[in-house]
Amino acid sequence: MTDIDSLSAQALADITAASSPDALEALRVSLLGKNGSITSQLKALGALPGDQRKAAGEAINRVRDAISQALASRKTALDAAVLDARLTAEAIDVTLPGRSSERGGVHPVSRTMERMVEIFGRLGYDVAEGPEIEDDWHNFEALNFPPHHPARAMHDTFYFPGGRLLRTHTSGVQVRYMGEHKPPLRMIAAGKVYRSDSDQTHSPMFHQLEGLLVDEHSTFADLKGTITEFLRAFFERDFEMLFKPTYFPFVEPGADVVIKWDTEDGGSRWLEVLGCGMVHPNVLRAVGIDPERYTGFAFGMGVERLAMLRYGINDLRAFYENDVRFLKQFA
Ligand code: FA5
Ligand code: MG
Repeated sequence: MTDIDSLSAQALADITAASSPDALEALRVSLLGKNGSITSQLKALGALPGDQRKAAGEAINRVRDAISQALASRKTALDAAVLDARLTAEAIDVTLPGRSSERGGVHPVSRTMERMVEIFGRLGYDVAEGPEIEDDWHNFEALNFPPHHPARAMHDTFYFPGGRLLRTHTSGVQVRYMGEHKPPLRMIAAGKVYRSDSDQTHSPMFHQLEGLLVDEHSTFADLKGTITEFLRAFFERDFEMLFKPTYFPFVEPGADVVIKWDTEDGGSRWLEVLGCGMVHPNVLRAVGIDPERYTGFAFGMGVERLAMLRYGINDLRAFYENDVRFLKQFA
């Protein structure tokens, strides 16, 4: 029976040394499994002489019980260690500040454009659209800019090879709209336009809102009234403004509207916000409308310029720098 005692001593030492639940399980199988060393001892009992069997059987059973107990308590300890390790690894520090989500907002230029469209919508203007890549006829020729006309140079046009161009103003949409609708008509068209131009009040891509009204009795007084009403509704306050006579090939007479604007240094400056005028008879003729019967007025507003005035922004380029601190103010 020294055999069983040393087997027991070795087994208990191995159990104490087992470093993981898996190693312990392997040990259990090698001791108490079907072919385990203790199990084999029990099987060997039958071969002993009858008078030794009882004592040997008791000794083996005692060892087996001791080993079972040692296995069970080592398993409890190892399982607890595994759980502890997992709790440490997956620990959540509930005192850390949370990750908040940022809320987006409509870009101030889009917001301004939506506001402008809504005001004209209330006045019964139909919303039209035109392409940003335009042809010479819609952008210039039908608007009474003959080829080589010096006024074309005012537009700093971006051309594509083959003669197409990025529209320099939204006035081409007037031409498209009059080609598809019979007067009386009133429409607006808002969108991006492009010119090779950049400074505090000019950007190479900017937005315009075009307006056009054609019927039998429209006059410059109607145009003035419409623009004045619009600007009052838009700003909800009074600005000093002027209609200054100016030249556009597609209107006669034509005017720029300038608004007095307070600058940062405490002074003031006149800012041109739109061009307008009575539709030129040549433009009506180009789209098959009889200028003897119909007259019309048109205007083209700078959306960024109106946004600058409304929000008190003194450099138009701020709209396109995508500085989140700037944009957040409008969220
Ligand atoms: C025109 O583009 C004419 N099509 C407007 C018009 C329409 C006149 C219908 C008569 C009848 P102008 O080039 O002045 O005109 O531009 C109109 C407005 O766009 C300007 O008053 C200004 O507010 C704005 N604007 C012009 N260039 C820029 C630019 N580079 N950056 C930002 N805004 C601009
Ligand atoms: Mg101008």
